[in-house]
Amino acid sequence: MSDDGTTNDPIPDIEIPGTVAVVTGGAGGIGKGIVGALLRAGSSVVIADIEADTIAATVEEFSSLGPVSGVRTDITDESSVKALADQVYEQHGKVNLLYNNAGVTSGGGGKPWQQEPNDWRWCFGVNVFGTAICTSEFVPRMLEGGEPGQVINTSSGDGGFAPVPTASVYAASKAAVSCFTEALHHNLVMEDTRLRASVFYPSGGLQRTGLFTASRNRPEELQRVGEATGRKSMTFDEMKAMLEKSGREVVEADLDAQGDFVVSETAARRYIITLNLGDTVDLLHRRADAIGRLDVPPHHGMPI
Ligand SMILES: NC(=O)c1ccc[n+]([C@@H]2O[C@H](COP(=O)([O-])OP(=O)(O)OC[C@H]3O[C@@H](n4cnc5c(N)ncnc54)[C@H](O)[C@@H]3O)[C@@H](O)[C@H]2O)c1
Repeated sequence: MSDDGTTNDPIPDIEIPGTVAVVTGGAGGIGKGIVGALLRAGSSVVIADIEADTIAATVEEFSSLGPVSGVRTDITDESSVKALADQVYEQHGKVNLLYNNAGVTSGGGGKPWQQEPNDWRWCFGVNVFGTAICTSEFVPRMLEGGEPGQVINTSSGDGGFAPVPTASVYAASKAAVSCFTEALHHNLVMEDTRLRASVFYPSGGLQRTGLFTASRNRPEELQRVGEATGRKSMTFDEMKAMLEKSGREVVEADLDAQGDFVVSETAARRYIITLNLGDTVDLLHRRADAIGRLDVPPHHGMPI
């Protein structure tokens, strides 16, 4: 490997049929699209999600596609994740694909200085600690098993590439996810393992998911203490209407097609998984140029 770790990696592709996959946040939204795609590709899938009813509905909906089951899991809780891993290894004997996909917003909105400690605790608890806890629980077992595998962490263009200034806590959490994934990948290469990491940036249009009502899963003890500030939680349709009213052309992403794409890119062990970088590459160049001038990098304009 070269000093900057960017050399070509000769590791073989992953044969998806016969693999065992765990998808956090797989009961709904983007994760559900990945679960369906994995089943169509021949993987056995375990959905790990905090919403028991949604897990049950998704397992029922997908049961004709292939072996799918669910375990109610709170990824912010080490004992819950350990119980998940114990159950998956007991039932399947291995894990090849770990999709750290569950995520939440920070709720409430507001300026960076209006964010409450509980906004940070909840958002970082799920997005960052959840990803870290699942990685620490599963990766040693995956390494021990010695099979080919991949850890795919869902980040966001918001934070992963550049912050949306009105979403400061969420952006910071996704910057952490992207940075952690890169470090994870390098270590998996350095240790000469059969595992690699990928970072997934949902793209290709507005995602019709439950993210905009993520507060439905916010624990009682992590609620805001002060007055709500800024934008409140809204449904996808309210969000879409708001964007259309502001004159934006809104294209909805196809979550099933996105899932198929994520799975084929997983098989190819692509490091960055995203459907359409579009203007992002140009933004990243302009960010690098600004940093080179010791200037403030340009940010994402999306009002989310
Ligand atoms: N929707 C978007 O526009 C968008 C854009 C970029 C990135 N993302 C990311 O995509 C991922 C999936 O989000 P989505 O848009 O499908 O939202 P979603 O709300 O539809 O799905 C998230 C899932 O995570 C689960 N979850 C929440 N807290 C959990 C916890 N503590 N433990 C286990 N599961 C938990 C929820 O029950 C839900 O099923 C997230 O990481 C999100 O940040 C979403």
